[in-house]
Amino acid sequence: MADRWADSHRKDAWRKMAKNSGYRARSAFKLIQIQKKFNLIREGDYVLDVGSHPGGWSQVSVEFAGDGGHVVGVDLEPCEPVEGCVFIVGDITDLDTQKRTIEAFSDSMINAIVSDISPNLTGNWSRDQIISLQLVASVFDFSLPLLCPGGNFVTKIFQGEGIEKLIQLVKPRFSTVKRFSPEASRNSSSEVYLVCKNHVPWKNSGISILSELNKIYTSEDDEDEDTEKSAIGFRLHKAK
Ligand SMILES: C[S@@+](CC[C@H](N)C(=O)[O-])C[C@H]1O[C@@H](n2cnc3c(N)ncnc32)[C@H](O)[C@@H]1O
Repeated sequence: MADRWADSHRKDAWRKMAKNSGYRARSAFKLIQIQKKFNLIREGDYVLDVGSHPGGWSQVSVEFAGDGGHVVGVDLEPCEPVEGCVFIVGDITDLDTQKRTIEAFSDSMINAIVSDISPNLTGNWSRDQIISLQLVASVFDFSLPLLCPGGNFVTKIFQGEGIEKLIQLVKPRFSTVKRFSPEASRNSSSEVYLVCKNHVPWKNSGISILSELNKIYTSEDDEDEDTEKSAIGFRLHKAK
């Protein structure tokens, strides 16, 4: 009870700070803290903000990319305009949205991808965690071919089954991959950010991260004694 009170008090404090600084969401401070530690966005960068609504990360990305930069935000929900940012409304896993996203960069490569994407949470923890991980894997599959050599990537992930596999799949494509928990999100949930620096596109580029990740899940038809039921009908392989 005391923990929950402290947690909500902390969130309120960040919310108040966001309001006073003109940011639309307290999540803006998470990206600021990630940027301070890892310097993912540089002046003049082309930045893709995935899951951008209401626009806090887009505001921060525009600030760091500066006048010579270009920021494109994609979300299922429309965002109020942010000067220096182009917003696309659509599902990032949908082909038409992906086409519009590529066009918004005029076919130029992207320097930094920042993703705070999070599915609608149902409250069913294992279900939410798996869906979120699959969504993140889809974002990697779509956007990695657009990321320039040396480019950076950060994404929100929820701790749980499959994380180690995802990290193992992503690691060969960057010089460094680290988990980071910014102070603005600490204690709020099991969310953590995966910070990937210096893209090396020539490694493992043909492999789908989502397909590889899905190999740890199996359908109910494949049921055997080494599997354990998950919340959404498919089963998780037990680690051997
Ligand atoms: C935590 S919010 C992002 C907050 C944002 N970073 C900010 O600072 O304002 C997560 C967002 O992911 C979006 N989202 C979830 N699934 C998506 C999908 N398939 N395609 C695009 N956006 C998606 C949700 O609509 C939601 O707005």
